[in-house]
Amino acid sequence: MTTQAAIQSQHAATHRYVPSTSTPVSPEKVASVLKAEWELFTQGTKASETESKRAFNSLPLGVTSSFQHWDPYPISISSAKGAYMTDVDGRQLLDLSMGFGAMLAGHLNPIVIEEIEASLKQGMLFVTPSPTSTDAAERICKRFGIDQVRFTNSGTESTMYAVRVARSATQKMGILKIEGGYHGSYDPFVVSSKPPVAEAGDAEEPTPYIDSNLVPGDIYVVPFNNIEALERMFASNANKIACFIVEPVLENIAIVLPDAGYLERVRELCDQYNVILIFDEVKTGLTAGAHGASARLGVKPDLITLAKSIGGGLPLAAFGGKKKYMDFVSNGKMAHFGTFNGNPLAMAGVRAIDRICTDEALAAAEELNLQALTRIGQIIDEYQLPAHTVGFGVKGCVTWSTTPVRNYRDYKATDFGIAEAHWLFALNRGIITPPGLDEQWLISLAHGQAEIDLLVEDFREFAKAIRA
Ligand SMILES: Cc1ncc(COP(=O)(O)O)c(C=O)c1O
Repeated sequence: MTTQAAIQSQHAATHRYVPSTSTPVSPEKVASVLKAEWELFTQGTKASETESKRAFNSLPLGVTSSFQHWDPYPISISSAKGAYMTDVDGRQLLDLSMGFGAMLAGHLNPIVIEEIEASLKQGMLFVTPSPTSTDAAERICKRFGIDQVRFTNSGTESTMYAVRVARSATQKMGILKIEGGYHGSYDPFVVSSKPPVAEAGDAEEPTPYIDSNLVPGDIYVVPFNNIEALERMFASNANKIACFIVEPVLENIAIVLPDAGYLERVRELCDQYNVILIFDEVKTGLTAGAHGASARLGVKPDLITLAKSIGGGLPLAAFGGKKKYMDFVSNGKMAHFGTFNGNPLAMAGVRAIDRICTDEALAAAEELNLQALTRIGQIIDEYQLPAHTVGFGVKGCVTWSTTPVRNYRDYKATDFGIAEAHWLFALNRGIITPPGLDEQWLISLAHGQAEIDLLVEDFREFAKAIRA
């Protein structure tokens, strides 16, 4: 992707545009827009409200994953096709979340349906080896440039198993993660995933923030994009640390790009200190390009974890990498089991996605994303908004800060009030992005020029509203 930024320190395969001038938006203005938008929301979503009240009886917070909840209640969806979803109030919504990336091929993609239907005709679950799982493994290994892979059912499982491989291989038990990094809900990964800054210690040497219900083991935390902090950490603790797990581009605190040279130096230091490098590509994966973020950014980890985009919307994930490490699964030194691992329907999903996600198809979606980012950047300039754009592959976001966000502490200093107003403004006008303010939009293979225009023009309307 072309870099247009005034500040050009991030990796060259990523996008960031930070305008050189802006004027603040008053908190009073943000508050008044938010108040009006919440009124609009509750007026237009009566059926979602009823559905949420009903769901609260049987499901904590009325949802199946706590991410899905927001106050006063979330939108309830009845169906989805292509780039759109329909909610229980009958409103059509442009989906820019696309299942956090799991629906990269679009809702009800005909090739995904074809592969699933063909698979169903052969049976549901064998719990024995099958040519379908070997075929899927071969496709994943080839595409992501890894020697071996094992399938699981969720990203959380995959990151947990990748850590177990690293512990088996190094005979060290410690885990190093990034402050603000999210890798699923296994105990060590919840540590410092969104710590309260006041209780997280020094920005250069963060204290692991551990909720009282976690048993995380030996856990260490460093800030992203800070090689000096990593060197200090390794110099003191590498003899206890099995692995460094990191998203090559952080995609759980909006989008935080690696500085030019950061990942390359991380690779060198992990080699120097005998620490296994795990790239968590659960979110990046195919949304980063046809061969994942590792290939895109030119840095090879020892192990990778994959989920979401590789399975066509089925519950599928994987961990894999160099044979010398996956050998610890082969030699029985580490346990990896699972009734549903490699189930035929999920394998059909892999086959479908491998057919659909060609280099050309993903490059075309990325081109549309770049167009959206560029046009939104121009609107930010025109309205002198205190914001900038960030993008990677088919994902993009507006970050409400006048300076680049390079780590969790920078992210915590962004303006969450305007971010919420922007999200809600779009939702009230038929555009749904993920519920947290930490997320990004995704241009799937089902999105076209019309959808890019909707995204961009909605942003213009928001800019007008916030400057009115
Ligand atoms: C980077 C990353 N790793 C792991 C996970 C966990 O995946 P799952 O929700 O499938 O358990 C997520 C989920 O969003 C993620 O973003």
